Amino acid sequence: MAKYKVAVIGNGMIANAAHIPAWRDIPDVAEIVAVADDRGDIAQETAGRYGIPKSYKDYNELLAKEKPDIVSVCTPNVYHKAAAIASLKAGAHVLCEKPLSVSESDAIEMYDTAEKTGKLLYTNQTMRFMDPIIAAKDFFDAGYIGKPYYIEASAVRRRGIPKWGFFHMKEHNAWGPGFDIGVHVLDAILWIIGAPKVKSVSGKSYTIFGDKDEGLKESLAESGAPIGVFTPRPYSYKEFNVEDFITGFIRLEGGLTLNLKASWAINAPEGGGATFISGTKGGLNLFPELELISNMAGYQTNTKAKVPMSIDVPFSGHFGATKQLIATIEGREEMLVKKHEVLNVLRILDALYASSETEREVIFE
Ligand SMILES: NC(=O)c1ccc[n+]([C@@H]2O[C@H](COP(=O)([O-])OP(=O)(O)OC[C@H]3O[C@@H](n4cnc5c(N)ncnc54)[C@H](O)[C@@H]3O)[C@@H](O)[C@H]2O)c1
Repeated sequence: MAKYKVAVIGNGMIANAAHIPAWRDIPDVAEIVAVADDRGDIAQETAGRYGIPKSYKDYNELLAKEKPDIVSVCTPNVYHKAAAIASLKAGAHVLCEKPLSVSESDAIEMYDTAEKTGKLLYTNQTMRFMDPIIAAKDFFDAGYIGKPYYIEASAVRRRGIPKWGFFHMKEHNAWGPGFDIGVHVLDAILWIIGAPKVKSVSGKSYTIFGDKDEGLKESLAESGAPIGVFTPRPYSYKEFNVEDFITGFIRLEGGLTLNLKASWAINAPEGGGATFISGTKGGLNLFPELELISNMAGYQTNTKAKVPMSIDVPFSGHFGATKQLIATIEGREEMLVKKHEVLNVLRILDALYASSETEREVIFE
C-alpha cells in the first residue's frame, strides 16, 4: 500500500519535538514529504534536521505542489483556521494542534469545510491518548464513581510562561493559558465524563506577572517544552499582552459544576491543587497520580491504579493521535476527538473570556 504523504505547516517547537517524531514513528504508513514555515529559514532547517525532501515558506505553494494526503497544522493558534481550511480544500486530512481555533465560530467554519471537502479535521487533544487519562475514563465508564456532580480542573504552572515563540502575543495566539493549557484539562475531563453540555460560565482573567520582568530563573520544561526548542524566537516581556491566569465557574447539564484554573504564572503551589471528579459513589483524583477515592468495608479508602505506560516519551499523546487519525481515515476506528466535544470546550473558553470582560455570567439556552 502506498504511504500517506504528510506535510507539516508551522515548524516550531511542537512540530520538531512531537509531530515529526510521531509521523516518523510509523514509517511503513506515513512519509513526511514537505514542511512549511513563514520563517522560511526555519522550514529549511527543520527539513535538513530530519532529511525531509522539501521545505517551503508559503504553505499554499506546498499544498499546490506536493498535494499531501495529511497535513499537521502546528502554527500559533490564530493561524490554525486559515492553514487547516487551505489544507482541507487542497484535499488533505488535517491534524490540527489544540486549541482547534481561537473561537467556537471559527471552529464551526473549519468543520463545515471538512464536511464539504469530505476530509477529516482532527483536533489534536493529546491528553486523551495518555495512559492515566484513558485509565480514568475506564474507571468512570465502569461505574466506580457513580453520578458525577463536582469537578476541579487545574492546569496551573507556578511559573511557566512559554517564551520560545508567539504564545504571549494576542495577535498570534489570541489568548493565554486558558486556550493553551486550560483547553487540555477541560477537554480531557469532559471527555472522561461523557461531554455534558455547558449551561453557563463565569470567568475572570488576570495579567499580573507576564508583562513584568521578574528576573526569575525559569526552565523550558516548566513552560511546556520538556525536550527543548531548536530555534527560539527572541522573547520580550514587553510584548506580553494576554492573561497569565484565568479561572472560571462552569455549570454543565445534569447539575454538574466545574471549577477551572489555568495559569502560566501565579503565586500558588505548583499544579494549583488537585484535578478531580467527585461522584455519588466515589471520586477520581487525576494528578499527580490516578487515585480512586471511595469507602470500602467501613473505611475511607484511596486506591492507586497501576497504569502500564504504552509509550513513555515526552509528548506521547502525539504518537497516539497520528495513529488514531490513520485508523479513522481507513474506517477502522471512529474519530476519538469529536466535533461536538471540541465545540463544547471552545464555547466554554469563549465564554470565560467574555464573562471576564463584562463581569457577568454567560448563560446558554
Ligand atoms: N498538544 C500539545 O501538547 C502542544 C504542546 C505545545 C504546543 N502546542 C500547539 O502547537 C502550536 C504551535 O506551538 P509551538 O510551541 O510549536 O510554537 P512555535 O512558536 O515554536 O512554532 C510555531 C511556528 O509556526 C510558524 N508560523 C507562524 N505563522 C505561520 C503561518 N501563517 N504559516 C506557517 N508557519 C507559521 C512560526 O514561524 C513558528 O516557527 C500551538 O497551537 C500550540 O498550542 C500543542
